Amino acid sequence: MRFLLICITVSFLVHISSAFTLGAARYVRTSALSMSSSVKRNANFGKLQAGYLFPEIGRRRNEYLAKNPNAEIVSLGIGDTTQPIPPHILSGLVKGASQLGTKEGYSGYGAEQGNRMLREKIASTLYNDLIGPDEVFCSDGAKCDISRLQMMFGSEVTSGVQDPSYPVYVDTSVMVGQTGLINDNTKQFENIVYMPCNPSNGFWPDFESLPRADVYYICSPNNPTGAVATRDQLTKLVSFCKKQGSIVVFDAAYAPFIRTPGVPKSIYEIEGSKEVAIEVNSFSKYAGFTGVRLGWTIVPNDLKFSDGTPVRQDWNRVMTTTFNGASNIVQSGGLAILDDEGQKEVETLIDYYLENAKILRECMLELGFKVHGGTDAPYIFVELDGKSSWDTFSELLESTQVVTIPGAGFGPGGEGFLRMSAFAPRESCIEATKRFKEYYKKPS
Ligand code: MLT
Repeated sequence: MRFLLICITVSFLVHISSAFTLGAARYVRTSALSMSSSVKRNANFGKLQAGYLFPEIGRRRNEYLAKNPNAEIVSLGIGDTTQPIPPHILSGLVKGASQLGTKEGYSGYGAEQGNRMLREKIASTLYNDLIGPDEVFCSDGAKCDISRLQMMFGSEVTSGVQDPSYPVYVDTSVMVGQTGLINDNTKQFENIVYMPCNPSNGFWPDFESLPRADVYYICSPNNPTGAVATRDQLTKLVSFCKKQGSIVVFDAAYAPFIRTPGVPKSIYEIEGSKEVAIEVNSFSKYAGFTGVRLGWTIVPNDLKFSDGTPVRQDWNRVMTTTFNGASNIVQSGGLAILDDEGQKEVETLIDYYLENAKILRECMLELGFKVHGGTDAPYIFVELDGKSSWDTFSELLESTQVVTIPGAGFGPGGEGFLRMSAFAPRESCIEATKRFKEYYKKPS
């Protein structure tokens, strides 16, 4: 009997273990062969090069950390805010959340274009009523709006970008099918107009000498170069676009960093711009809302497509179809940003980051580099004397454990430059400058 029991147990164990082995083998086989669906891949995605820039920087940083677990990384990489949301603005968010817990205050879906009060306050406080509240569309951020604008423009238009530029303009042009393949030599996509911006032209394109584009993406204060467009440059841009029937998408996400008197913070300060310009903007960098998410896009009533259709009509269609309105909690925070108290808090935050930019800028100048930006902008753009920007990025990561962004990540025109972001705690900026000084110190 005992023998029989042992036999049954052994055969049971053998059965279980062979079932397990078979199952595991089958798992290995299916995962090795990995079934494909019969759905064809969108060929435009195959044209994109590697991953999106900022996750790629994160991946390299993590790879370094995995190999050097004791590394004390300082990040001057992605432009992500680090200072806490100040009390008045925070109280707006808290109020928005608390209201949802009361019968009277509860709200479900809101208007896709945003809360009326917020649209009015954006128009009056930030634009001095140069645009009307109906022209303001609130959203979850400028980046998301840029991709929705590309969807609205579709695959038949040609985009013009400053080179270097915020990578979202080019990558979304590729995704919606506006481009051909990348040219491996020039590192440029076919059918995008790359407009060189470098120290020799003051980081401002010579539009007249370049092929025509339908839609120009212009960012001021500029990411990544930190350059700021003057009133004269913007006035000429508006008349150039009128003359050739183009549209400007003006990215003003860093407008509150402008401290030089007379420099336009919005394209609508330029006469005639409402017939040619869309403006995208966001509270991310204004008020530490990178994680909270609240932006807006202005589409003026006067802006029309070639067949006379108001662009606003199609933009409204895009927003009502693909977006359910910014979160009501967040919009309550947005209203607080636009109060007098909120505006003072914004100024204090911007002062803080501008002081960081000054610290970084002065350090690099002291070390003998040519430095751009960082006065009316949170980014400084450092010239590398002909050195490769990815190599310098890796060299600084490995030698100083400071994360920066290689200029080439913003387009071929960024090669030979390194971007440093002032969105960091003060002590991180000071620490980074100490390490740079140590690393670059001249042998005595
Ligand atoms: C940047 O680092 O360029 C930006 O902060 C990223 C973004 O705003 O999407």
